[in-house]
Amino acid sequence: MAFDFDTPLRLRGNHTSKYDNIAKTFGIDDPSAIAMWVADMDFKAAPVILDAMRAEIDRGYCGYFGNTVPVDEAVAGWLKDRHGFEIDPSWVRYTHGVISGYGDIIASYSEPGDGVIVFSPVYHAFYRQIEAMGRVVVESPLKVENGRFEMDLEALGAALKGHEKIVTLCSPHNPGGRIWSVDELRALADFCAVHDLILISDEIHMDLTFPGATFVPTLIAAPEHVDRIAILMAASKAFNVAGAETGIAIYPSAEMRRALAPVILDRESTPNRYGMTIIKAAYSGGHDWMDEMRAYLAENFRIFSARMNAIPGVSVMDMNATYLTWVDFSRLGMSDAELLKRSVHEAKVIPSPGTQFGTGGGGHLRFNLALPRATMIEAIERLEKAFGDVQ
Ligand SMILES: Cc1ncc(COP(=O)(O)O)c(C=O)c1O
Repeated sequence: MAFDFDTPLRLRGNHTSKYDNIAKTFGIDDPSAIAMWVADMDFKAAPVILDAMRAEIDRGYCGYFGNTVPVDEAVAGWLKDRHGFEIDPSWVRYTHGVISGYGDIIASYSEPGDGVIVFSPVYHAFYRQIEAMGRVVVESPLKVENGRFEMDLEALGAALKGHEKIVTLCSPHNPGGRIWSVDELRALADFCAVHDLILISDEIHMDLTFPGATFVPTLIAAPEHVDRIAILMAASKAFNVAGAETGIAIYPSAEMRRALAPVILDRESTPNRYGMTIIKAAYSGGHDWMDEMRAYLAENFRIFSARMNAIPGVSVMDMNATYLTWVDFSRLGMSDAELLKRSVHEAKVIPSPGTQFGTGGGGHLRFNLALPRATMIEAIERLEKAFGDVQ
């Protein structure tokens, strides 16, 4: 292996949200706690990124960033090489994080009181952003069919009230790493056309496929609906650079770019210089690191799911993308508070509570597997002790 994902980094006490916010969030201040909640990896960023940041610092200039064209081209090159997705670099815009870009689209395409649809259980910040902007969260609960999530567009169609303006798709899905198929994506885009809805496809996890799995960009699946599709993505999750708070929005429709221009000017201003440096470096030279890291995650998932599935009453949703596993403890018959207590206070393993992800999240915990294998195995052993005695 050319890259080291095994050596633990010193993360505590270094302004690491994942470790340094445990005490205030979970009420446990124990240096042996293993953080498996916040969606950051415990890995060092790719050398190509760190070298580019060093060079940027050595130049000594920290002023406003200008001329994004080389970065736009790096984004377009990455999408074409990795996903066969051809875009025009002029479609690219930068945001202060993906959720900020999500807010741009909500601001442009809805009014306070309008409905924004999410497929629950889903990434909790969608709820936060929708509510903070005075819009209404409309949940469309995912069904679990043959052990995987499926959208229920029939039920969603029947439940529409007429105030819904936007659909939020998380692709691949967080939690549970579901890669949506071409047919599912087409069906959703057709649904949006029938009901005149904007489709926001948050593809932030697109690069985190396990070897052999193929991610389908929504626009490739449904090109005829280009006028209503907005894509959000970032280097942040896949390259572990979320602290740069830089997201990427792709607006393939000229009309949408025009509609969003005032909001982007107002909310996003100029992009973060270090975010730009990171994106350009990652997307120009990060291929080898990405491929090794994906293989490492796939093996972590293989080990985690085999061992956790062996605990009576526990079942891990199968997945082939992301490091955010979705674990069903509901057959144990415990309350959500008890589940969290056993994981956090007994095992000292910090998961994300399933209830955070909305309807369908009860009885579940989400575990982030992007950590050194030995640390993950230690976490599994502790979880086996905390939950193994129940049945
Ligand atoms: C689906 C999804 N979208 C967005 C984000 C966060 O993006 P940002 O921090 O750039 O707002 C996350 C973080 O975990 C995520 O899982």
